Amino acid sequence: MKTYETLIPEQRDHVLLLHLNRPDALNALNFTMFDELDSFFSLDYKEYDTNCVIITGKGEKAFAAGADIKELHGLSSQQAETLSRKGQKIFQKIEEFHLPVIAAVNGFALGGGCELAMACHIRIASSKAKFGQPEVSLGIIPGYGGTQRLIQLIGKGKATELLLTGDMINAEDAFRLGLVTDVTEPDKLMDRAFEIATKLQSRGPLALAGVIKSVNAHFIQDTDGYVFEAKEFGKIASTSDFEEGTKAFIEKRKPLFQGK
Ligand code: COA
Repeated sequence: MKTYETLIPEQRDHVLLLHLNRPDALNALNFTMFDELDSFFSLDYKEYDTNCVIITGKGEKAFAAGADIKELHGLSSQQAETLSRKGQKIFQKIEEFHLPVIAAVNGFALGGGCELAMACHIRIASSKAKFGQPEVSLGIIPGYGGTQRLIQLIGKGKATELLLTGDMINAEDAFRLGLVTDVTEPDKLMDRAFEIATKLQSRGPLALAGVIKSVNAHFIQDTDGYVFEAKEFGKIASTSDFEEGTKAFIEKRKPLFQGK
């Protein structure tokens, strides 16, 4: 597998496990990490027998504590806007990735770290995790989709309050608000992430990709999500996987999906 400076990718079982690897800086997303995330999510991993990505942070303290503040300091207005568009596009690439991406949030997920988690398809958290968009404390706003995805995930009222106050919330509150779907003891987090991944392994991979595309279609301007869904449904209905899935049900056995 390709090697990176700030990421450690590893194949474990049927999962691509991706560690954000700058623990001394609480896995802050520096420019190199952005480029490497872009590169990691540009590959299709067809040669690997995987159907899920899990992202987590190295070290005990952080998933990612935001964009690297030391790099942000001193950016011009033009440089900042360019950086924001670039970060948005990379996170959109994750949101549109054909394999489900699970964020296993092991500690601080602040600023860009929270935005990265929000770009993933499923978020689970250790009971020690903390979430927030503290950018206003630095005199700036979230720039990697945070203002948009937080309102999508938890609603405008609470999202606006969190964005305006910059307050951190704990894992239980994140669960209550629907920002994460599960909270575990810290030492059980990866087991839970792999449990979800194993479940996904038994599902039709083309169907998983179709769900991701159809859910995302809801947020594309001028796209009718229902029409999009029907088109995907039609496309997938003609695949061998659908033939196999229905046949297996009738024959009372587990399906063997080929992703075809
Ligand atoms: N960018 C760059 N470096 C960061 C960072 C970030 N977003 N977050 C943490 N670090 C670095 C610290 O500078 C420190 O490095 P040092 O040891 O060289 O001084 C190291 O990570 C450990 O952080 P520290 O602040 O000492 O840990 P803490 O446990 O006292 O506090 C936080 C943890 C998360 C509360 C605190 O680090 C923090 O507020 N980070 C910034 C969060 C933020 O505003 N994110 C949005 C950025 S747009």
